Amino acid sequence: MELYLDTADVNAVKRLARILPLHGVTTNPSIVARAGKPLWDVLPALRDALGGTGKLFAQVLAEDADHMVAEAQMLTQRVPGLVVKVPVNGEGLAALKTLKSLGIPTLGTAVYAAGQGLLGALAGAEYVAPYVNRLDAQGSDGIAMVRQLQSLLDQHAPHASVLAASFRTPRQAVDCLLAGCRSITLPVDVAEQLFTAPAVDAAIQAFGNDWQGAFGTRVLS
Ligand code: E4P
Repeated sequence: MELYLDTADVNAVKRLARILPLHGVTTNPSIVARAGKPLWDVLPALRDALGGTGKLFAQVLAEDADHMVAEAQMLTQRVPGLVVKVPVNGEGLAALKTLKSLGIPTLGTAVYAAGQGLLGALAGAEYVAPYVNRLDAQGSDGIAMVRQLQSLLDQHAPHASVLAASFRTPRQAVDCLLAGCRSITLPVDVAEQLFTAPAVDAAIQAFGNDWQGAFGTRVLS
């Protein structure tokens, strides 16, 4: 599977790249805006934070296909290897087709329905990103949608991968993986919650306390 962080927080990427098997970092315009730094500063800094390896994702802002393609070309010229995120609407689908013919790797984003995601993949996207928590928040079932989308891609567009996005809880992320999706991108807090819990800290403290009580030290020797 592939694990990504969904953030433009360079320090957080540096911190988590040390301990997690990260495949890269995804961003979107809102995430970069929150970071308050120009994209051209953020993307190289994220790459450095990953240790110079891994995939980076950044999104076009244009709303018509021609300008989406032009932005995608500019992005990939300035940041080699970048995967360009394109919203899967009518103009985005046209842009995805052109970008496929130009050999520019893409991710179809803003996916709220399985059929929509399939169209993004058929248009040439390498990844499609269903928005799990946003679906849950509007009363739909994000995990059920991911399951359907994964099944559609397996049957009809096996070149493409579901890269599930928009998570608020570790449970959503695990359920997504159980539903068959093989790539996820997590906000920093959700990634950290996957391996931290008061019960874990308490268990580790108790081991140390027991050892110290018996041998007067907390060090193996
Ligand atoms: C991914 O493509 C999206 O940009 C992102 O994961 C959306 O997450 P949010 O719902 O937390 O904003």
